Amino acid sequence: MQGVFVVDHPLVQHKLTLMREVDRSTKGFRQLLNEIGMLLCYEVTRDLPTELTEIETPLCKMQAPILAGKKLVLAPILRAGVGFLDGMLELVPSARVAHVGLYRDPATLVAVEYYFKAPHDLHDRLVIVTDPMLATANSATAAVERLKERGAKDIRFVCLLAAPEGIAKLRGEHPDVTIWTASIDERLNEHGYIVPGLGDAGDRMYGTR
Ligand code: PRP
Ligand code: URA
Repeated sequence: MQGVFVVDHPLVQHKLTLMREVDRSTKGFRQLLNEIGMLLCYEVTRDLPTELTEIETPLCKMQAPILAGKKLVLAPILRAGVGFLDGMLELVPSARVAHVGLYRDPATLVAVEYYFKAPHDLHDRLVIVTDPMLATANSATAAVERLKERGAKDIRFVCLLAAPEGIAKLRGEHPDVTIWTASIDERLNEHGYIVPGLGDAGDRMYGTR
């Protein structure tokens, strides 16, 4: 599928299986989401440009690579996208953070915005939007539109599970936004939930059900 990367690393797949299990505790679910966030961050930043700089080791001088180019903004979609944040910030501690507060109306599945706060220089940065679930993609497309409205020009989307319907919508409306996911699941059910999925990510993360 063009513009979609499935991260099939065995550690990611193993941890995802543990997360899907209905009896996984809130603590375990949150910890696994954090760990997978770190691993997905490694993948989504794989092609970041580097440049050579001169350093001195205890033995000699050398030209060594450091990150070059745009700085990063991590943009979690509240609530569940926050589950990736700490893991990603461990790897990229200097990243800025944009919070995008959206909830999905349970009847219409339309994304409703309740909070938005982002750095002012989005146009100069690579923006990585995070949300464990890409279901109808109403939330993801609303977040991407809002970030573009505020100047973002280079956006990537990272999730844990994606439904084929959600991928088609996000790629259809924003073909410039590439997607990284740990799994493309079978389908959406009549309530807009991903099947087989893992249930409601926010509720499982925060124990609110
Ligand atoms: C969940 C999930 C995504 C959204 C995905 O959030 O975290 O943001 O649903 O569904 P979609 O692709 O059909 O838009 P929810 O609206 O349940 O809010 P929460 O994270 O606050 O629980
Ligand atoms: N949001 C979730 O948390 N889970 C789904 O399966 C779909 C949307």
